[in-house]
Amino acid sequence: MIETYVQNIRARLGDFQPEVLIIIGSGLSVLADKVENKIIIPYTEIGFPKITIAGHKGELIAGTLGGKNVLCMNGRYHLYEGHSPALIKDMMSTYQRLGIKEVIATNAAGSLRKEMEPGALMMITDHINFSGQNPLTGVNNDAEGPRFPDVSHAYDENLANRLRQTAQEMGIKLFEGTYFFVVGPNFETKAEVKAFRILGADAVGMSTVPEVIAAVYFGMKVAAISVITNQSADIQTHTLTHEETLFEARQSAVDLQGLILKFLEK
Ligand code: HPA
Repeated sequence: MIETYVQNIRARLGDFQPEVLIIIGSGLSVLADKVENKIIIPYTEIGFPKITIAGHKGELIAGTLGGKNVLCMNGRYHLYEGHSPALIKDMMSTYQRLGIKEVIATNAAGSLRKEMEPGALMMITDHINFSGQNPLTGVNNDAEGPRFPDVSHAYDENLANRLRQTAQEMGIKLFEGTYFFVVGPNFETKAEVKAFRILGADAVGMSTVPEVIAAVYFGMKVAAISVITNQSADIQTHTLTHEETLFEARQSAVDLQGLILKFLEK
């Protein structure tokens, strides 16, 4: 499977050698707008499954951004769609074989901190995976990565420093915090978000952690940023919807686009 994915992508890339993977979260597809000399490869052409969620397109965009050769995943796979965690591992293996060294993951997330309001950007500095799901379950191939990988430094400190510096130079407020991964698809109960806060989380969301675990396993460096789209259920007074997530993410996507562009130029 993985070899097929790699060959199908290589066939379209030609001589182009990608270095950085950008994973685009819900409502954030504007991130791909500034990519130059685009090669657009629909996921179905690669052999990846169909995307089933509104606001996610389902194409891989290759090109240059901020002087770097990038691949942008315009649309990602979520476990709540019924995809197996192994798909995420295979996908990240594919990118590693294509030469990707760094991964910038983005997502939409709910805030567990009152002062981190919708529209805020939060750099993920750590995560909590109590989901019971892991992309690395199954037989391990020791040639690919260790059976028991250390993910205690999953978010690369050099990339984080570069992001901090870039945000500061641009006058963009960049919160930092721990991301709590839930499978979804339901938004959380009040008791759940209270519990996550007590456990030390700052934001909650339904993506990114599987990709990060697999990226670390395959030896890629990771940075991740959440766009805060809502307050958690125990703080906010109205019903949460996916439409609100998309709307709020689109509002902040331009800030995030600027930040990532400048970050890549560094
Ligand atoms: N919970 C989980 N996932 C989310 C949220 C949330 O409040 N907002 C955006 N994605």
